[in-house]
Amino acid sequence: MAYAAFRSIGAYVPADILSNDDLSKMVDTTDEWITKRTGIKERRIAAKDQTTSDMGVEAASLAIKRSGIDKEDIDMVICATISPDYFCMPSTATIISNKLGLGNVTAFDISAACTGFVYILSIAKAFIESGMKKNVLIIGAEKLSAITDYSDRGTCILFGDGAGAAMISATDERREAIIDIHTAADGTYADLLMTPNGGSGSIHDSLDQEAGSCFMQMKGNETFKVAVRTLTKDVIDILKENKIQSEDITHFVPHQANYRIIKAVGDALKLKDEQVVMTVAKYGNTSGASIPMAINDIYEQGKLKGGDLMLLDAFGGGLTWGSALVPF
Ligand code: ACO
Repeated sequence: MAYAAFRSIGAYVPADILSNDDLSKMVDTTDEWITKRTGIKERRIAAKDQTTSDMGVEAASLAIKRSGIDKEDIDMVICATISPDYFCMPSTATIISNKLGLGNVTAFDISAACTGFVYILSIAKAFIESGMKKNVLIIGAEKLSAITDYSDRGTCILFGDGAGAAMISATDERREAIIDIHTAADGTYADLLMTPNGGSGSIHDSLDQEAGSCFMQMKGNETFKVAVRTLTKDVIDILKENKIQSEDITHFVPHQANYRIIKAVGDALKLKDEQVVMTVAKYGNTSGASIPMAINDIYEQGKLKGGDLMLLDAFGGGLTWGSALVPF
C-alpha cells in the first residue's frame, strides 16, 4: 500500500495591511479591545481585482517548485474555500489548475470553512492510499474581505485574505506517512456561523440580491465556547489513539482564529510556547488558508525540518472541526 506524505508547502499574502487602528476609524472598536480579545494586530487585504484563485496560484506555484514534482505528474487539485471566485461554478480549483497549466486533472472545491485544509488533507490522503492518485495539490485560499461586512465590529476585526498550498504525494516510506486525520461536523450548530443569503436556503430570491448579501454572520461567543470544548477533546483523542505524547510534537499548528482558543488547547496538551505556531497577530483569521500559511511561516523561518512532527487542528462554520498528525 502507498502512504501519503506531506511533501512541500507554499503560501501567499497580499501586500496591503489593514491594522486595528485602521479598523477603529471604520467601526466602534479599539486596538486594545481587538488585541486583548483576539490577539490580532493586523490582517492582509487583497487588491480589488485580485481573486481567490490568483492568490491560490501564487501559493501553489511555490509548493510545486519546492516539491520537485513535474507539473505533468500532478493528478488532482483540491481547493478549500468559502470565498470562491464564483459561488456556484466553475470551482476555484478548476480555475487554479488552468492558470497553472495542469491540463485535465481532477479538480474540485470543498466547503468546510476554517476546517477546510484538514478536510482536503484527508481527501488527498484517502485518494493516495487507495492508489487512485499519486500527487495531489491541496490549496486553502480565501478573499474573506469580499464576504466581510465592514460595518459589523463583531466580525470585521477578525478576517483577512491569503492562500496556502501543499503537495501531498505517494511514498513507500512508512516514516514519511501522514499518521492520522480526524474530521467531523455537527450541523445542529449551523446557525452560529453563516452567510445567510445567496443560496437556495435564503429567504430572498438568490438570483436577485444586492451586493454584500453574502456577508458572514457569527455568534462569536457561543462559537468560541464550542471551539475550545470540541478542539480540546479532539486533539487529546488523536494523540491518545496514536500513542503520541505532547512532547513528541515539534509544531502545534492550529487554525488561527483567536489566540485565546489556541492557548486553551495548547494548555490542555501542556505544550510549551515554542511548540505552538501563532500567526494570528499578523494575518488574522484567513479560514481555510490559515494552517498552510502558518506552516509556510515556520518553513521560511527555517524552523520546520525533515523529521519534525506537526499536530494540526481546525474549527469553523458548519460547525466543522478536525485534527491531523503530519510528519514533515
Ligand atoms: N470592539 C469593541 N467591542 C466589541 C467588539 C469590537 N470589535 N466586538 C464585540 N464587542 C462587544 C460586544 O458588543 C459585547 O458588548 P456588551 O457586553 O456590551 O454586549 C462585548 O464586546 C463582548 O462581546 P463578545 O462577543 O462576548 O466578545 P468575546 O470575548 O466572545 O470576543 C470574538 C468576540 C473575538 C469574536 C470571540 O468570540 C471569538 O473569537 N469567537 C470565535 C471565532 C471563531 O473561532 N470562529 C470560527 C472560525 S471562523 C470561520 O469558520 C469562517
